[in-house]
Amino acid sequence: MSVFGDTYARYYALLYRDKDYDGEADFVASLLREHAPEARSLVEFGCGGGKHAALLAERGFAVTGVDRSAGMLDEARALAATHDADVAARLAFAEGDFTSAQLGKTFDCAISLFHVVSYMPDNAALKAAFATARRHIDKGGVFLFDVWHGPAVLTERPSTRIKRMADERIEVTRLAESTLHPNECLVDVNYQVFVRDRSDRTVDEIRETHRMRYLFPPEIELFADLSGFRVEHSCEWMSRKQPDDRTWGVCYVLRAV
Ligand SMILES: C[S@@+](CC[C@H](N)C(=O)[O-])C[C@H]1O[C@@H](n2cnc3c(N)ncnc32)[C@H](O)[C@@H]1O
Repeated sequence: MSVFGDTYARYYALLYRDKDYDGEADFVASLLREHAPEARSLVEFGCGGGKHAALLAERGFAVTGVDRSAGMLDEARALAATHDADVAARLAFAEGDFTSAQLGKTFDCAISLFHVVSYMPDNAALKAAFATARRHIDKGGVFLFDVWHGPAVLTERPSTRIKRMADERIEVTRLAESTLHPNECLVDVNYQVFVRDRSDRTVDEIRETHRMRYLFPPEIELFADLSGFRVEHSCEWMSRKQPDDRTWGVCYVLRAV
C-alpha cells in the first residue's frame, strides 16, 4: 500500500482543484488570530502540496510544512516558487513523519489540515503525532487540526463515491469504496483511480488504500491530556457550528500547557 506516493501526488492537485483552500486558509487564520493573536510562525504537519501553507504565508504567517511524501513536497516547493519573493521567503518545507519529526526548533503554533490526524491509525501513532506537535510549540501556543468525527461516521456511514476531474492533459476518474471497521474505529477507503491521457488515450490505473481513524471528543481530550495539551475549542470545519452526529469534519484547537 503506497499512500500519497509520487504517482498519487501527480494527480492530487487536479483531484482537489475544486477544494476551497482560500476559504479554508481564512477559516484557519481567523481561529489562529482568536486563540493565538501573537502567532507568526507555524509548523504544518502533513502539508501535502503546500496550498494551505502558501495561502497562510500570503496572510503573513511564516510556515514550515512537513510531509512524509517526497512527491507532495516537490509540488509544495514548486508552488512556493510561483509566489512573490516576500511570500516565498516565509515558506519552508521538510521531509518528516508526523509521528517522529524533529525539526530542532519551536514555532508559535502547529497545524495539521484535511484530516491528516485521522491518518494516524492507532493509539501509538496518535500519541506520537500529538507529542510531535507539542515538542514543536512552546507553552501557550496552539495546535489546530481537523479529524473525522466518530458520531457522524457511525450515523452516516462511508458511502461509495465517484469523482471526475479533467484538465487539458488528463482526465481523472476516482472511485472510492470504503470498508468500516467499527471495533477499531477505522475506515479503509479504497481508491481506484483511472488516469486517461487525452493525447494518446492511454489509461493508467492506480490503487491506493487510505486507512482513516475516526475520533470521538473524549478521545481527543485524552490524547491532549497525555501530550501536554488542553482542548480549548472545537467546531464544525468551516461553519463553526457545534459538532453533532451529522458533522463529518471537526476542527479542534488545543492549548499547549
Ligand atoms: C489528505 S492529504 C492532505 C494534504 C494537505 N494538508 C492538504 O490539505 O491538501 C494527507 C497528507 O498527509 C501526509 N501524511 C499522512 N501521514 C503522514 C505522516 N505520518 N507523516 C507526515 N505526513 C503524513 C500525506 O503524505 C499527505 O500529503
